[in-house]
Amino acid sequence: MPKQDKGKAPQRDAPEDVGAQDSKGSSGTKKLPPKLIESLLESNPALKNELAQMDTNSAAAALSNLDLNQMLTGLAIGGKNQKDMASYKFWQTQPVPSFEDHRGKKPVTQGPIKIIKPEEVPQTPDQLVEGFEWCTLDLTDDNELRELYELLNNHYVEDDNAMFRFSYSQSFLHWALMSPGWKKEWHVGVRATKSRKLVASICGVPTELRVRGERIKVTEINFLCIHKKLRSKRLTPVLIKEITRRCYLNGIYQAIYTGGVILPTPVSSCRYYHRALDWLKLYEVGFSPLPHGSTKARQITRNHLPSTTSTPGLRAMEVKDIDAVHDLLERYSLRFDMNQAFTREEIEHWLVYKEQPGKEQVVWSYVVEDPETHKITDFVSFYNLESTVIDHPKHEAVRAAYLYYYATETAFTGKQAALKERLLMLMNDALICAKQAKFDVFNALTLHDNPLFLEQLKFGAGDGQLHFYLYNYRCAPVAGGINDKNLPDEKKMGGVGIVML
Ligand SMILES: CC(C)(COP(=O)(O)OP(=O)(O)OC[C@H]1O[C@@H](n2cnc3c(N)ncnc32)[C@H](O)[C@@H]1OP(=O)(O)O)[C@@H](O)C(=O)NCCC(=O)NCCS
Repeated sequence: MPKQDKGKAPQRDAPEDVGAQDSKGSSGTKKLPPKLIESLLESNPALKNELAQMDTNSAAAALSNLDLNQMLTGLAIGGKNQKDMASYKFWQTQPVPSFEDHRGKKPVTQGPIKIIKPEEVPQTPDQLVEGFEWCTLDLTDDNELRELYELLNNHYVEDDNAMFRFSYSQSFLHWALMSPGWKKEWHVGVRATKSRKLVASICGVPTELRVRGERIKVTEINFLCIHKKLRSKRLTPVLIKEITRRCYLNGIYQAIYTGGVILPTPVSSCRYYHRALDWLKLYEVGFSPLPHGSTKARQITRNHLPSTTSTPGLRAMEVKDIDAVHDLLERYSLRFDMNQAFTREEIEHWLVYKEQPGKEQVVWSYVVEDPETHKITDFVSFYNLESTVIDHPKHEAVRAAYLYYYATETAFTGKQAALKERLLMLMNDALICAKQAKFDVFNALTLHDNPLFLEQLKFGAGDGQLHFYLYNYRCAPVAGGINDKNLPDEKKMGGVGIVML
């Protein structure tokens, strides 16, 4: 599946027939026969799409400069929309690091970029253009929740070819935006004055991060969305400034956000990987191509999973497991440079599914209870994020499970081989549980300890990246689990320990 801007959408199975070569070769495409270029472009729709938007001369120049590795690993020409700092007319005015800051020439002094004086924070928002007005969404009101759902369902992140669009359910929005400590003022909307229609949104929830030992209170920003008819009118900077003002008024001066586009300046970048659970459906919707030289039957067999899990003591997480999971996750998280400091309440909110009438299940969490000691030794979770298949005769949606938080006691043995072995079993079981829950694909980033199992468990490389950003905070870059060839690398782990929705 082609990437969506947030870098989160499933893409395609990495073409395994070429995958074996990609960590080695890096010859220029000039030496490649045209037929091979054609076939490589077929397996890299993002790159093909980018070339299609250029005039012939620029496309030829870009192609001849392109590294074979970039094609094989699915990376497009540059970061999406990457420009030089001076061209970021809005972002260059904001307290964010410049690209220069991250080039490693000078040591980075970690900390806030700008000290905010509460008395200088404006008490009122900037004026919107005529015909539009600010609103604060009341997401406890089902009608307003539905309005946000509809805005996102029609106008949120799509892939480059407009084949798929994220479809966050109302239950998902409820879960994502009403976490412990949530603030109504951080659910910001813009309405058309006359029709009252919701035409834009930007939302945040509070949380605490630990960045290389420093604890910072942040707002997690999400669901920035502008109605398609109001694009390219510089509304984004106005939305960002407004939510920033509302955070400052609450004494929160830092934020974390993610995106598929390059902005100044990612603190880390991860790559998406996708494990087909229902390969045939993914193929039918144009999500996964048929790798060169393979057959449908072979692909189905290749992605087959056992019908039962194999970790002894694996069961669904319950309320009684909260303290044990909290303790385990806390210790596990501290192994990463940038991680989330959860409260007990947050563990309950984010991980424990409680059946409620009329609410769909959003999160699936499992613990491993040692059959003898009854201690919780591991846990794993994933959440449901569907994508609408735009204008497809047979399929309406792709059901994607996204790997969420997990932890294992094996991480503290100090033995990487043991950790790998444990994660291979635990994650294979997570795939089986997701298959049983009727998911079509299982997605994971290269964060946490994921490089230890992605390739072995037949996750294919996606062509999108997810960049992590901190607002008003400077720190040295954090490893994203990938190397300079954009491939999962066990030596690049230990950086990102936070999962953003
Ligand atoms: C992302 C979106 C809000 C941008 O809107 P737009 O109309 O294209 O852009 P605007 O004219 O309003 O603003 C342009 C500015 O916003 C910045 N911008 C664009 N996308 C951004 C993002 N995801 N996060 C932060 N800033 C972004 C641009 O870099 C530009 O600033 P610059 O001059 O410093 O470079 C809009 O395309 C949209 O709703 N897309 C679908 C949902 C989506 O992708 N949301 C973001 C998820 S991470």
